[in-house]
Formats: sequence, structure tokens, C-alpha cells
Amino acid sequence: MTALQTIVAEPWDDYGLVDSGNGRKLERYGPYSFIRPEPQAMWAPAEDFWTANGEFIGASDDDGGGRWHLDRDVPHKGWHMKWEDIRFTALCTPFRHLGFFPDMAPQWNWMRERVQPDDEILNLFGYTGVGTLALAAKGARMVHVDASKKSVEAGRANAFLADMADRPIRWIIDDAAKFTAREVRRERRYDGIFLDPPKFGRGPNGEIWRLEEHLPALIADCRSLLDEKSRFLVLTVYAVRMSALAIGELLRQAMADLGGTVEVGEMAVREEARGLLLPTAIFARWTR
Ligand SMILES: C[S@@+](CC[C@H](N)C(=O)[O-])C[C@H]1O[C@@H](n2cnc3c(N)ncnc32)[C@H](O)[C@@H]1O
Repeated sequence: MTALQTIVAEPWDDYGLVDSGNGRKLERYGPYSFIRPEPQAMWAPAEDFWTANGEFIGASDDDGGGRWHLDRDVPHKGWHMKWEDIRFTALCTPFRHLGFFPDMAPQWNWMRERVQPDDEILNLFGYTGVGTLALAAKGARMVHVDASKKSVEAGRANAFLADMADRPIRWIIDDAAKFTAREVRRERRYDGIFLDPPKFGRGPNGEIWRLEEHLPALIADCRSLLDEKSRFLVLTVYAVRMSALAIGELLRQAMADLGGTVEVGEMAVREEARGLLLPTAIFARWTR
């Protein structure tokens, strides 16, 4: 039988989910607080009135998906934040998020507990690199892959900000599936892999990524890059109609010959007002 776990991101100095309800959430990011749409917050909020430095007002995709309404003092180019020993930049992006995903923090911690100095770790769909830096800080040699030049540049800038520009990190702009297939042909191996694929995406040369269609082949390639000495494979999936059990079975099947265990479940952020859990994503992870 598969027991579903709930992995909870607790508030930290620079981040907290302050309150949530009536289809919205109030979060603090360093010195600023923001209100964003949150369809899963169907309950009533703790407080009737929220004050914030900005709000994202959602709209249909045809109307550009919505936009930020910000106080004048919110820096458009972002501000510095810290998670554990990692400094990075947060900013209000047109995609309604803040340039990093706080609910990932417990997954970063779980991998940090397992990684060893000089381990080779692959981060696919790595975005602005906070996860990459979290493991590089523990001495891992990182390969960070993302299709977006802008995201990879933001990752490099975060490495400077975190005083980690000299760490062994390869910043690669490529299609995640193509890069992984190429690594398999080169007979490369990794000590750990983590991936946070979107529902839909495009590689730098217009390659199409569709989660339901392309995930099984990508997981099979990830398996080929791991061996009996490897430590983990972490898969997180958000914003899709897909069950944690389904990605758990996919991983269990792909990793069966390596032994080890697969855990599956939901990821959530704890609200500060009442301790209530706001779900954000699902995950499946293998470790030996
Ligand atoms: C929302 S982010 C993942 C979040 C990140 N793991 C984190 O926790 O900060 C999804 C990323 O996938 C990238 N992406 C989309 N399609 C891709 C593809 N075909 N190959 C590589 N990266 C892709 C996007 O550029 C984006 O940076």
C-alpha cells in the first residue's frame, strides 16, 4: 500500500504565507507583502482586511493573464532575500510568481541531507537556480538546465549574490529532454537528479514539452543516468490534473531494478495565521 505524505514548507525569516482565503493569499517576501489569486483557498481568511505592497489581479490568458498593481516603493528589478545560507533575488514576474518557489524548500532540505561533497547533481527545468545553489552550497557539482536564457542569467546572478560564482556549476540553456537524452548517449552518470517540469513549455529551439506526453521518456532517461551508487531522484509537479499516486507509480517502475524506496505525496505551505495547509504541488522521490 502507498501512504501519501504531506511535505510542509514552514515559514522562515524572509518568507511566510501570512493569511489565505476567499480565493486569494497574502504572503511576505522579505520586506514586502503581496496578494495573489489562489483558487485552492476556498475557506474564509483569518482577517477581513489585508494590507500589502502589491496585488496581482488575474485575468484570462487572452487578456495577458493579469498584471501586478504595485506600490511605488517595490523595486521593479527585485530585492535580496535569503533562504538558509543562500542569497538570491526575488521580483514580481509577469507570470504572477516571485522568481522562486518557497514550497520547494523542504525538498531542497531533503536533498541537502543526502548530498555529499563532489557529488554530480542534475537540476532539470532549474529556473532561477535557488535549488541549484542550495546543493552547490553543500559541495555538489551542479548541472543546471533550463530552456530560458533569462532564467539561466538570473541563476548566474543569484550565484554571484550568494558568493558562489566560483562553485562548480554548469549553467546550460537547452531543452531538458534533449539534453538528458544526449547525456544518456554520452554514458554519463549522476549521483542525484531533480526536476520540476511545467505542464507545458518550450525548449530554446521551439521544442515542445507536454508533461503527460513526455514525462515517461524523460524519467526513463533520468533512470539511465543513475546507477547503484546514486542517491536520489526528486520529481515535483504543479498546476496539473495529475495524482501523486500516478507519478509515484511511474517512478517506482522506472527505478525498480535499482532497489531503494519511493515516497509520494502532496506539497503544501503552512499559513502563519492559523497553521492551515495550502496545497501547492505533488511529488514523488526515490532514494536508496
Ligand atoms: C516554474 S519553473 C520550475 C521551478 C524551479 N524548479 C524552482 O523551484 O525555482 C519551470 C521552468 O521550466 C523551464 N522550461 C520550460 N520548458 C522547458 C524545456 N523544454 N526544457 C528546459 N526547460 C524548460 C522554464 O524556462 C522555467 O524556468
